[in-house]
Amino acid sequence: MSKFRLAIVGAGPAGIYAADLLIKSELRDFDVSIDLFDMLPAPYGLVRYGVAPDHPRIKGIIKALYEVLDRGDIRFFGNVNYGTDLTLEDLKQHYNAVIFSTGAIKDAALNIPGIELDGSYGAADFVNWYDAHPDFAREWPLNAKEIAVIGNGNVALDVARILVKHPEQLLSTDIPDNVYQGLKTSPVTDVHIFGRRGPAQVKFTPLELREAVHIEGVDTIVHEEDYQYDEGSQAAIDGNNQTRVMVNTLEGLRGQETTGAPRRLHLHFFSSPVEIIGEDGKVAALRIERTKLDGKGGVVPTAEFREIPVQAVYRAVGYFGSALDEIPFDSKRGVIPNDGGRVLDAAGKQIPGVYATGWIKRGPVGLIGHTKSDALETITNIIADRSTWWNPADASEQSVVDLLKARNVAFIDWAGWLRIDAKERALGEAQGRERVKLVDRPDFLANAKA
Ligand SMILES: Cc1cc2nc3c(=O)[nH]c(=O)nc-3n(C[C@H](O)[C@H](O)[C@H](O)COP(=O)(O)OP(=O)(O)OC[C@H]3O[C@@H](n4cnc5c(N)ncnc54)[C@H](O)[C@@H]3O)c2cc1C
Ligand SMILES: NC(=O)c1ccc[n+]([C@@H]2O[C@H](COP(=O)([O-])OP(=O)(O)OC[C@H]3O[C@@H](n4cnc5c(N)ncnc54)[C@H](OP(=O)(O)O)[C@@H]3O)[C@@H](O)[C@H]2O)c1
Repeated sequence: MSKFRLAIVGAGPAGIYAADLLIKSELRDFDVSIDLFDMLPAPYGLVRYGVAPDHPRIKGIIKALYEVLDRGDIRFFGNVNYGTDLTLEDLKQHYNAVIFSTGAIKDAALNIPGIELDGSYGAADFVNWYDAHPDFAREWPLNAKEIAVIGNGNVALDVARILVKHPEQLLSTDIPDNVYQGLKTSPVTDVHIFGRRGPAQVKFTPLELREAVHIEGVDTIVHEEDYQYDEGSQAAIDGNNQTRVMVNTLEGLRGQETTGAPRRLHLHFFSSPVEIIGEDGKVAALRIERTKLDGKGGVVPTAEFREIPVQAVYRAVGYFGSALDEIPFDSKRGVIPNDGGRVLDAAGKQIPGVYATGWIKRGPVGLIGHTKSDALETITNIIADRSTWWNPADASEQSVVDLLKARNVAFIDWAGWLRIDAKERALGEAQGRERVKLVDRPDFLANAKA
């Protein structure tokens, strides 16, 4: 073997970190050649298509990921879909191993009556709209005055913040014009966030919570009966600095005077969604059941119900991974079954040459930084497995380029991406913004050309 040829499918942070860590690994005593594929025309996964536009500091991680790809020792192939443009058999023909780092793009299901009503949305779909994902609708219905957001994680905060924020505050970000124009038409006055547990059980992070409850021109409203703690809550507050900080932030909102701002963000705890009530096929209210603490930080139902009039419901109850052709999938957890990144078959046996990392390996929880430790585990196992790698028929670097060209796959290489990047920056500069994102695939392809 002249070089270890590795294919990585998914150019989000997990895939990019895996490539970088393998190249830098001190355990490695062989040469490597890595090809990174993504079905999108752009690299960076959810950092580009998930992180909220008004979080430029986090979007700044893109700079670090860019620097890895710009070194020139990892080849990027954008606009290449594993499953249609490339198959597992193709990868076996041209590589020694593959890592799947395909992340998650869909919403987890919330099985309550009324979830299919007009005006009931998945958070992921809304995120895909405001972050300009090329494969999702460019129109978003923003006609509700009162909106419910279900969930107490950071995605719920992102969605509620974008919905309640005055759109002018987003003008300096990279949102496309259609998103700004859409948000400008929104008549929203009240956004209600519902958590099924209490203030000590939120899955927010401190910075994100503080930001959401102090939005300019928005009053935050909390409810006295929601401030309840049991022994489990107290243990969480005492044992976890983040929980303590967040409970302090929430405690600070108690009894706070409202300012009469035109928009309000309401935080409700111990509120479990049981039904979305419809009128003429459209969302009219959210029915919730009050829960109470069980002593251990969990909750139990109380059979006490109430309805909150809303015209739209966004469920932010987690993301969910998608199955890949010819690769085992755990449909309960939405992940590829694996042991330390080594992909396992139905019998729990390792499948040689096939690995996973990132959200598709571990499930859709954790920050961008967590995908680095994940990638380290996977690449350490790949290096240890060298005796089981595939024996490709043609491992030349040209072979996969020839294959994609023969199939008329309009792949975007790194030079092409740099041209797109320059175009987005130029569009931004003209408006005094850092960048304006391209949205449509034909635009990406046209701008990728020299
Ligand atoms: C809405 C939202 C906001 C977030 N904000 C933050 C934040 O502010 N800070 C933070 O630290 N973390 C944030 N996170 C978490 C962070 O985005 C994840 O931890 C991280 O992106 C997971 O990385 P990944 O590479 O595993 O998956 P992803 O980032 O999802 O990347 C997967 C890539 O695989 C590609 N792919 C999928 N299927 C195929 C296929 N068949 N063929 C080819 N390519 C394919 C996708 O196009 C994608 O580019 C956020 C998450 C969400 C959902
Ligand atoms: N700015 C940032 O740093 C940022 C932004 C976005 C996302 N992220 C990260 O991305 C990851 C995913 O975030 P996420 O918000 O999608 O997931 P998450 O953190 O797992 O939160 C999911 C929320 O949904 C609730 N939930 C689940 N099922 C429910 C049901 N049937 N009824 C009512 N509520 C339900 C959960 O409540 P329970 O706790 O009771 O289960 C939890 O509050 C997280 O690690 C997050 O920190 C980070």
